Amino acid sequence: MGKNIVILGTQWGDEGKGKIIDLLSPYAHYVVRFQGGHNAGHTLVVNGHKTILHLLPSGLLHEHVIGIIGNGVVLSPVDLMNEINMLKEQGVCVKDRIIISEAAPLLLSYHIAMDKAREKIIDKNINLVIGTTGRGIGPVYEDQVARRALHIGDLKNIKCFSTYLKKNIDYYNFLLSNYYHEETINYDNVIKNILEIRSDLLSMTKDVPEILNMACKNNHTVIFEGAQGTFLDIDHGTYPYVTSSNCTAGGVCSGSGIGPLSINYILGVTKCYTTRVGLGPFPTELFDEIDLHFFNVGKELGSSTGRRRRTGWLDIVALRRSIKINSLSGLCMTKLDILDGLKNIKICIAYKLSNGIEITNTPFCINDWNDLTPIYKTIPGWMESTAGIKSFNLLPLAAQNYILEIERLVGISIDMISTGADRTETIILKNPCI
Ligand code: GDP
Ligand code: IMO
Ligand code: MG
Repeated sequence: MGKNIVILGTQWGDEGKGKIIDLLSPYAHYVVRFQGGHNAGHTLVVNGHKTILHLLPSGLLHEHVIGIIGNGVVLSPVDLMNEINMLKEQGVCVKDRIIISEAAPLLLSYHIAMDKAREKIIDKNINLVIGTTGRGIGPVYEDQVARRALHIGDLKNIKCFSTYLKKNIDYYNFLLSNYYHEETINYDNVIKNILEIRSDLLSMTKDVPEILNMACKNNHTVIFEGAQGTFLDIDHGTYPYVTSSNCTAGGVCSGSGIGPLSINYILGVTKCYTTRVGLGPFPTELFDEIDLHFFNVGKELGSSTGRRRRTGWLDIVALRRSIKINSLSGLCMTKLDILDGLKNIKICIAYKLSNGIEITNTPFCINDWNDLTPIYKTIPGWMESTAGIKSFNLLPLAAQNYILEIERLVGISIDMISTGADRTETIILKNPCI
């Protein structure tokens, strides 16, 4: 019996989604990206060999898997082709196993130029600096909402496409030169580059909602791959320090064309501590030797931009919110091994406001987010190594208790535990795909 499984991040991204999707992909026919773009960095480690995917679905290392890029994904054609070629050089041929929705918005060089221009500190008087990945994500989603985006399917009618492209480039050039005093974009270069790969792109486009519908009818298993994380969601995140798409479960339907009643299981991937890249609120953030431990032992450098990830303790208040708004069926806790050797482990169980009031829900407004002091529960750590352990019973007792305590605090089951970066270094208590 086929299933539709969603796997998404419950924190601020980089929870280890890529590893888990790769691990479960042998059970899937299709792996579908439904939001985000090449701002994502999903790391897969197989027999010590590391592959980082940005735009392509994380199941593609398995030869039988078909990767789908849904309409909710903003697609940089140049980065897509580069990633396909990167995999080809590794001996993994994916071009014939990729399906792209005709309705996916095209992310082009002027979006990147605009994103970078806005992020320059010098511009902080005319817009907020977010610490984006600088990959053009915000501007292209703005185009979509403003109803001026160009989609892959528009490449079928090149005359019409060129006219709209010219209009868009004129619009962006006006802003780039007048507001940001940046170099403008050359239309001829953009159209030349896109014409070179036009037929490759069109050969991959198909009617994705129809394919997903057929997959359900044929009892095929589909994994929907979240990018970013719940608190980077444009609507439910720490706005305005968010990405520009819906990373939460609601985005699966709007970003791919599957109906909500077809989803069978939603797995929330959660790091045993917390990390965040870029600016914005982070209640449990640390600036002490534990931060250094997480950074050094957890190798917390961004997979896309190489920036140092900020680190902090696990935040149960945020996790509970994530469980509710995503209808999570179960959790996968990752990077348990990074807690090895810590004498005490803290878990944030509530927040205190500056007026002394305690709250147990995440707030909505940026000023309220900035007013939170975490209240911690401390539980004993363990000195033994958990690295690579594949069975719950083999974990040190204190590590077992840590997992059971989280389960008790959040009220849903922890179905998987990751104890290392490699595909195999995982405890599977309940396989969502079976
Ligand atoms: P994603 O964006 O959610 O796919 O996560 P990233 O790939 O950006 O970051 C997760 C990092 O942690 C990657 O370097 C993974 O190889 C690594 N990783 C994932 N799970 C584990 C684990 O259980 N233990 C250790 N030590 N590393 C892990
Ligand atoms: P994965 O899928 C962590 C962050 C950026 C910035 C904010 C907005 O690997 O978990 P954007 O370029 O999207 O406009 O930047 O979102 N961000 C991520 N942080 N992991 C990611 O993806 C991220 N994608 C975007 O750092 O704070
Ligand atoms: Mg990542």
